[in-house]
Amino acid sequence: MKKILFATSEAVPFIKTGGLADVAGALPKCFDKQYFDVRVVLPKYACMKQEWKDKMQYMTHFYMDLGFKNCYVGIMHLEYDGIQFYFIDNEYYFSGPKPYDSGPWDLEKFAFFSKAVLSILPVIDFRPDIIHCHDWQTGLVPVYLHDSFQAGEFFRGIKTVMTIHNLKFQGVWDVKTVKDITGLSDYYFTPDKLEAYKDANYLKGGIVFADAVTTVSNTYAEEIKTPFYGERLEGLMCARSNSLRGIVNGIDYEEYNPQTDPFIAKQYNAVTFRKEKVKNKLALQRELGLDEDSSVMMLGIVSRLTDQKGFDLIAYVMDELCQDAVQIVVLGTGDERYENMFRHFDWKYHGKVSANIYYSEPMSHKIYASADAFLMPSLFEPCGLSQLMSLRYGTVPIVRETGGLKDTVQPYNEYESTGTGFSFTNYNAHEMLGVIRNAERIYYDKKREWNKIIDRAMAADFSWNHSAAQYEEMYNWLIGE
Ligand code: ADP
Ligand code: GLC
Repeated sequence: MKKILFATSEAVPFIKTGGLADVAGALPKCFDKQYFDVRVVLPKYACMKQEWKDKMQYMTHFYMDLGFKNCYVGIMHLEYDGIQFYFIDNEYYFSGPKPYDSGPWDLEKFAFFSKAVLSILPVIDFRPDIIHCHDWQTGLVPVYLHDSFQAGEFFRGIKTVMTIHNLKFQGVWDVKTVKDITGLSDYYFTPDKLEAYKDANYLKGGIVFADAVTTVSNTYAEEIKTPFYGERLEGLMCARSNSLRGIVNGIDYEEYNPQTDPFIAKQYNAVTFRKEKVKNKLALQRELGLDEDSSVMMLGIVSRLTDQKGFDLIAYVMDELCQDAVQIVVLGTGDERYENMFRHFDWKYHGKVSANIYYSEPMSHKIYASADAFLMPSLFEPCGLSQLMSLRYGTVPIVRETGGLKDTVQPYNEYESTGTGFSFTNYNAHEMLGVIRNAERIYYDKKREWNKIIDRAMAADFSWNHSAAQYEEMYNWLIGE
């Protein structure tokens, strides 16, 4: 039995701010249980729902040194959906209304977490063959392993994988502060290790010291070797390119299933969508106070409202787009300027635009099920899960050809009658608008063609099976079998 430990700062259903939580919650379930024992460790945040905190069982606690501090490490445990989850408890670090704040406080919090991930292993008596780390928050796991833990018998030979879900976030602060926080010696703060551009960089540490590095799509794996997408680490990505691979994300096909989804007004499948899907649109129009019209094309957006997702393009042509026969439904939170932009358009085009500036799992499902098309014109997108959810619900994605969007949405070809969505290449608002209008044309004038796009979208398989097999293959290779 191969033992794998996922170290992550979020996982569904316990805590989620973005796609990382979906991945860390769904992927561990998809490994072959005969050969792989995959467990997950994450922080026990005060902001988790009480229902989960109530279910966790206290295992034990101990004290651990971190820099100049001596910290309490509590271990809680919960088995969920056949997976063993461990939660690191420390109220000093993990209180607060959200998992992440900013600045040195977050760096200290996740230095604590990363060191604790290693420290608990002998205590819970689980010696993983591989620790699979996710994003900068766990970047110090390979570093601490190298620094002190590896010297001990128990830890010798443990391999590490670093998966980059988003290269933009690296966990960076000045070297002196990070030295104090982490207790790591001068040895680690050179440009071939944690130091980048004079600062200390957690993700860089993870990438340098991990045995293998992955990211969440093939295209992104290539893109991050270039300055535009490389977030100033393109040199490192090139240097590590032999150990860097792209494995595209999947989604949880049980949780995102239009045939069984408890959140949507009318369930449907790849056969019944022609009649039934529209009932969701009508229900959502009523719920959100939009004009009730089954024939109007509804565009959906479910997203963090940040620059990454291409909202400046939308802002630029929103007035023009609203002259068309479309409705736009937005669900998201994030930068104030985008929140206010959508509130403004909701006010200006009432009945046509609905801005829902909050976080809601049920509402997200309703939008995936109700909209005719889903808009995701990202500036960059390591993988993207929303477009996969849209495909699954027969909601045609309109995307920019970058990262995982390029790898998962096949552009519609009118002449060959192929493709699962619409896409454009350049980060240009009118190029996007042109593509949206092309989609409108097919939707209104060639309904049969449109429905065939939906047929192909719903037939595409982005369940985890294929990608989990690629991770298994990598684990086997690392373990040496
Ligand atoms: P990212 O991780 O960059 O935010 P992804 O497309 O990988 O983008 O994943 C986003 C996830 O977060 C999806 O599951 C999406 O449905 C969900 N999501 C984003 N915003 C909201 C929101 N306001 N309410 C509910 N779910 C949301
Ligand atoms: C990040 C990326 C997103 C990806 C997700 C899960 O949040 O922005 O593209 O789908 O991680 O890997």
